[in-house]
Amino acid sequence: MSDPQEVISGGIGDLHSLKAIVTGGGSGIGLATAQLLAARGADVAVLDLNPAAVQAPLRRYTMNVMDAAVVDAAVRIAVRDLGGLDILVNNAGIGAIGTVEDNDDAEWMRVLDINVLGMVRTSRAALPHLRKSVHASIVNTCSIAATAGLPQRALYSASKGAVQALTMAMAADHVAEGVRVNCVNPGTADTPWIGRLLEQAPDPAAERAALNARQPLGRLVTADEVAAAIVYLAGPSAASVTGTALAVDGGMQGLRLRPKGR
Ligand SMILES: NC(=O)c1ccc[n+]([C@@H]2O[C@H](COP(=O)([O-])OP(=O)(O)OC[C@H]3O[C@@H](n4cnc5c(N)ncnc54)[C@H](O)[C@@H]3O)[C@@H](O)[C@H]2O)c1
Repeated sequence: MSDPQEVISGGIGDLHSLKAIVTGGGSGIGLATAQLLAARGADVAVLDLNPAAVQAPLRRYTMNVMDAAVVDAAVRIAVRDLGGLDILVNNAGIGAIGTVEDNDDAEWMRVLDINVLGMVRTSRAALPHLRKSVHASIVNTCSIAATAGLPQRALYSASKGAVQALTMAMAADHVAEGVRVNCVNPGTADTPWIGRLLEQAPDPAAERAALNARQPLGRLVTADEVAAAIVYLAGPSAASVTGTALAVDGGMQGLRLRPKGR
């Protein structure tokens, strides 16, 4: 058995011989992550409600994280095809707009079901396989909404707050088994999701400018930048990193700037 700290053949960041599952890898951050994992040498299975955009060498599987039986079957088949599992990226998620008054119970249950229970279901299905790996790692896609109070995001923020707490609890539960668990907290990222959000705004250009201005770097985060953080946490280079939330948010959480010109 090899040492978890051992750098795989090609050096730091090389993921040859590792096998990965990415949920929600059909678009945006998940697709960028799956492509980067593959570019670093990993064999990657994308599990998504709509994997139509997923191209070889990525493997693609249709899966709805809302259905435990479907998740169990998809993870089992993907692990069989991959020949094992080292990395799980729990990335599938949906948005929700509004204050605490704006969504009914059914919508609360739907969003929490996808964003929180979805990660629970895939993790539960993957853990028996991950325990067999010496490079086992889970990375959850969380959000700046877990740590900053954003207007009109009550339900979404509650779901991502739960993801961050779940990440820490899972890290504690599985550290002795050699499974690392971390999350990445993106700021507003320029993905198809944000494109859809902007389309709904009365003035999409003004809405984009407001989102850009909210981030100290003055622009949205890119999917590739988030993917780079996920892939770092997923791989053996981060062998000593567990129970961490890594912000990729253009400084939005940590910085308190003075108004321009003052
Ligand atoms: N874009 C942002 O600004 C941003 C910021 C912070 C966090 N995030 C998080 O990043 C993750 C990815 O978001 P994105 O911006 O790339 O969105 P996206 O809409 O581009 O991609 C999300 C993917 O998840 C899949 N998906 C949705 N529901 C699913 C289900 N029930 N089962 C399986 N797959 C499902 C979709 O088919 C899609 O391929 C989400 O968890 C989101 O909360 C996004």
